[in-house]
Amino acid sequence: MKYRIGLISGDGIGPEIISGARKVLDKTASVYGHEFEYKELLLGGASIDKTGEPITPETIEGAKASDAVLMGSIGGDARTSHWYRLEPSKRPEAGLLGIRKALGLFANLRPAVLYDELSGACPLKAELIEGGFDIMIMRELTGGLYFGERKTTVENGLRTAVDTLTYNENEIRRIAVKAFEIAGKRRGRVCSVDKANVLDSSRLWRAVVEEVAKDYPGTELTHMLVDNCAMQLVRDPRQFDVILTENMFGDILSDEASMITGSIGMLASASLNDTSFGLYEPSHGSAPDIAGQDKANPIATILSAAMLLRFSLDLQKEADAVENAVLKVLKDGYRTADIMSEGLKCTGTQEMASLISERIG
Ligand code: IPM
Ligand code: MG
Repeated sequence: MKYRIGLISGDGIGPEIISGARKVLDKTASVYGHEFEYKELLLGGASIDKTGEPITPETIEGAKASDAVLMGSIGGDARTSHWYRLEPSKRPEAGLLGIRKALGLFANLRPAVLYDELSGACPLKAELIEGGFDIMIMRELTGGLYFGERKTTVENGLRTAVDTLTYNENEIRRIAVKAFEIAGKRRGRVCSVDKANVLDSSRLWRAVVEEVAKDYPGTELTHMLVDNCAMQLVRDPRQFDVILTENMFGDILSDEASMITGSIGMLASASLNDTSFGLYEPSHGSAPDIAGQDKANPIATILSAAMLLRFSLDLQKEADAVENAVLKVLKDGYRTADIMSEGLKCTGTQEMASLISERIG
């Protein structure tokens, strides 16, 4: 079949990892008899440099006309890049927040999986991670502090800034429903994370999640305060199946979860709305320090492409094939520099992508 895939290369290592992932998608298409038609879309710094804006209507339209979008990474070094001399609403990150909002991508899935082959890179003690762990962080992505009103003023000579954390019950309900649906296909446990001992928005969150849980009697719901969750992730990560949480908490907890898997270079993500459309991107940033050097790990982007095949195109065996090819390459002893250990074979970005492609089909 023919599918339309939008490609946002973006900034920093983005173009390299996208070209690696494209290699893998092309191989998948040829083995399974599909046709992928790509459309390059501008976002972030790359868009600022070409159009003066971090996001344009062309990019939003191009994304909407695609079955799914695969993205590299957005942003640069805030200390040195000219993009950060612009006002905040014109910087690269505004493009990322803009596309999430414009496409209604409220559900952000961030799997944190510990691969056996990489358990040596996990900073936790061996007895805490024996048997591995497989956590799905479900982060609400279009509400909360990220999209509430904000302003900076001077009041009585004092510089004052305010950000607001707003959620309505519909915003909470739809992400909770997704979390229960996904938990039902996994180990059937949702841990909802909030700060209900302090915040009104969290008390509403907890109440709505409890209501949704009634429709999923086969799934267990627990609640955890966010500070405790940050601690439990490093104390006993195996206790978690699905973690459901609001935007800002999810931003922070997903970085923490990525660290305990050994390398953020391995973690994929999907941002979904209530259609089959999704935006897929690695959980890591644009790593401007190693951009253009063929050093970046393309695996997170390749695994994001696998999520794209699975969730947006409903190509399950193709997605399995990509994930298995990644496992095989790791078993065969190939590593990029970020996950390298003694006695294994160190490869660059493009070679890693080729090695994975060769193992499909
Ligand atoms: C992420 C990133 C973004 C976020 C930044 C770049 C705006 O950290 O996707 O986790 O905070 O959502
Ligand atoms: Mg983040």
